[in-house]
Amino acid sequence: MVSARFVVSAVATMLALVNSAIADETFERRARAGQIIFELCCAICHGRDAEGDGPIASHLNVPAPDLTLLARLSGGV
Ligand code: HEC
Repeated sequence: MVSARFVVSAVATMLALVNSAIADETFERRARAGQIIFELCCAICHGRDAEGDGPIASHLNVPAPDLTLLARLSGGV
């Protein structure tokens, strides 16, 4: 009879292995999804490169900030 503790630790180990195997791919996929969302929802004001120069930026009363400064201040994230 296999103990419940063994089953739990075996499942936990498998999950950890699967998790680390897909971690990189998941990051890549999320980064791509984020890029698409940014281009659809944010780039019109902030610009495709996030520098505050989107196509409608000149029509805003408050200028769209250059978001690359935030990224630089947070170490590129
Ligand atoms: C309609 C134009 C517009 C759209 C669309 C837009 N923003 Fe903005 N965003 C602005 C403006 C204008 C400000 C500055 C607001 C202020 O200073 O009061 C701002 C500010 C910000 C800030 C704060 C920057 C700082 O230096 O404090 C972030 C972060 C941001 N926007 C991210 C986004 C993201 C992410 C999206 C898409 C999900 C988005 N924005 C969509 C116009 C826009």
